[in-house]
Amino acid sequence: MTQVAVVTGGGGGIGLAIAARVVSEGGAVVIGDLNEARGREAVEQLGDRAGFVRADVALESDVEALITAAVDRFGQVDAMFNNAGVGGAFGPITEQTVEAWDATFEINVRSVFLGTKHAARQMIAQGSGGAIVNTASVAGLSGGGGPQAYSAAKAAVIGFTKATAVELAEHRIRVNAVCPGAVYTELLHRGRPEQTDAWRVQLQPWPDRGEPEMIADVACWLASDEARFVTGDAVVADGGLMAATPRLLDHDLQHLKRMTGIAYGNTGRDAEVRRL
Ligand SMILES: NC(=O)c1ccc[n+]([C@@H]2O[C@H](COP(=O)([O-])OP(=O)(O)OC[C@H]3O[C@@H](n4cnc5c(N)ncnc54)[C@H](O)[C@@H]3O)[C@@H](O)[C@H]2O)c1
Repeated sequence: MTQVAVVTGGGGGIGLAIAARVVSEGGAVVIGDLNEARGREAVEQLGDRAGFVRADVALESDVEALITAAVDRFGQVDAMFNNAGVGGAFGPITEQTVEAWDATFEINVRSVFLGTKHAARQMIAQGSGGAIVNTASVAGLSGGGGPQAYSAAKAAVIGFTKATAVELAEHRIRVNAVCPGAVYTELLHRGRPEQTDAWRVQLQPWPDRGEPEMIADVACWLASDEARFVTGDAVVADGGLMAATPRLLDHDLQHLKRMTGIAYGNTGRDAEVRRL
C-alpha cells in the first residue's frame, strides 16, 4: 500500500483516479495541478487525507514546493506519480513552431524530470525507498498515437523512466511508466464524447471504453509492494490498441475483404489474387 503519494495533474482524469485509489486504500495524497478550481474540487471529494497545491509542473520552484508541502502535511513521500500532461502542439510538421514544440516538452517531459528529481531527493533522505510512476502513452511507443511533439515527448518519458530506474535502484526507488491507450477523459474527448466513441470502436480491440480508473489500477499496482521486483518498465494499458498495430491494413480493409491470395513482394514473382 502506498502511504503518502504526490500526484501531479490530480485535479481530474487519470490523476484524480490515482489520488482516489490511494485514499481508498488508506493512504494520503497531495495533488499538484495548475487548475486551481479542479484541484480544490478534487480535494473536497477525497476528504482530509488529501491536500492540494497549485503547481505548474514545468517550473522547478513549484515542483520543489509541492514535495515540501507533502512532507509538511503528511511527514513523507513514498510514491510520486508524475502524471500531469497536455496534448500540446498539433498540426502538420511543416507548420510547427519552436515555441509550441518546446512548450509541449516543458509540460510533458521537464515535469517528469523535475518530479523525479525532487521526489527522489526526499525518498533518499528518508532512506526507506519509494516508487515513481510516470504517465507516458502508447503515443510514446508508436506513431499515430498523437501529434509529433506529443509522441516524441512521451517516448522521452519512457527513456527517462528506464535511465532513472537504473540509477535509483541502489536506493530501492523503483521507477516505472504506464502507457495508456485511449482513456475517456476530457483530454481525449474535449467535450465531444460521442464523436470519440465512434472512432474508438473501430481502432481498439477490447470492447470496453478506457476509463481513468483502469489506468489508476495499473499505476497504483506499479507503486505497490506487489510490484517490488518491477522497475524500468513501461506497462501498456490500452485495450489491445498496441497489439493490433501496425494498422497499415486498415485503410485497405474493405478492399482486402473482397479478395484473397498471396503477394511475393519484390521477388519478381507475380502475386496470386483470387476475388471473393
Ligand atoms: N486520456 C488519454 O487518452 C491519455 C492517453 C495516454 C496518455 N495520457 C496521459 O495521461 C496523463 C493524464 O491525462 P488525462 O487524460 O487525465 O488528462 P486531463 O486533462 O483530464 O488531466 C490532466 C491534468 O493535468 C493538469 N496539468 C496540465 N498541465 C499542467 C501543468 N503544467 N502543471 C500542473 N498541472 C498540469 C491539468 O490541469 C489536468 O488537471 C497525461 O500525461 C496524458 O498525456 C492520457
